[in-house]
Amino acid sequence: MKDFTQLAQERYSVRSYKPDPIPEDVLRQILEAGRLAPTAKNYQPYHVYVLKSEAALKTINEITNCAYHAPVVLMFCGVLDQAFVDPWNGHNGAEMDVSIVATHMMLKAADMGIGSCWVCWYDSAKVKEAFHLPENEEPYCLLPLGYPSEEASPSERHALRKSLEEVVTEL
Ligand SMILES: Cc1cc2nc3c(=O)[nH]c(=O)nc-3n(C[C@H](O)[C@H](O)[C@H](O)COP(=O)(O)O)c2cc1C
Repeated sequence: MKDFTQLAQERYSVRSYKPDPIPEDVLRQILEAGRLAPTAKNYQPYHVYVLKSEAALKTINEITNCAYHAPVVLMFCGVLDQAFVDPWNGHNGAEMDVSIVATHMMLKAADMGIGSCWVCWYDSAKVKEAFHLPENEEPYCLLPLGYPSEEASPSERHALRKSLEEVVTEL
């Protein structure tokens, strides 16, 4: 098993997938890793849709060119009326909670040799309509999942990270 630092260093956004399905037990372990994620007040204001039927995958690939024809696409929704709301600034915490859940799944997938790519490039109104999402659910991101194809490789942006000095301030 890789240690966490190695996993974080080696993970990259996969944008080309083999059509091979993800075994059910592997998918289940990825979903379970997300279920363990912390959320504000432990309210767990999220809903994950597993797009894997031919119809669902066709729909999402028609809405965005960033689902990359992966064999599975996770769609992460915040459940707005279940989320913690910051009493000082009124900020709804669903998006932050969803991000942590999706991050757990992204990293667990990588740990199991499954590639993924965090995707926000879609018209959320179209997604809501196409998948008949309830009024209180907001689709915050997608995570295409699958085995990386032979052509998959990190994009140029993968290597571009600001230095710690640029992003960290000690006070
Ligand atoms: C919030 C967020 C939104 C992103 N949206 C997209 C997207 O819509 N399409 C895409 O191909 N990549 C998307 N990415 C992937 C980023 O471009 C990628 O993580 C970044 O360039 C660093 O590369 P790496 O993941 O290979 O390290 C997104 C990443 C994040 C965190």
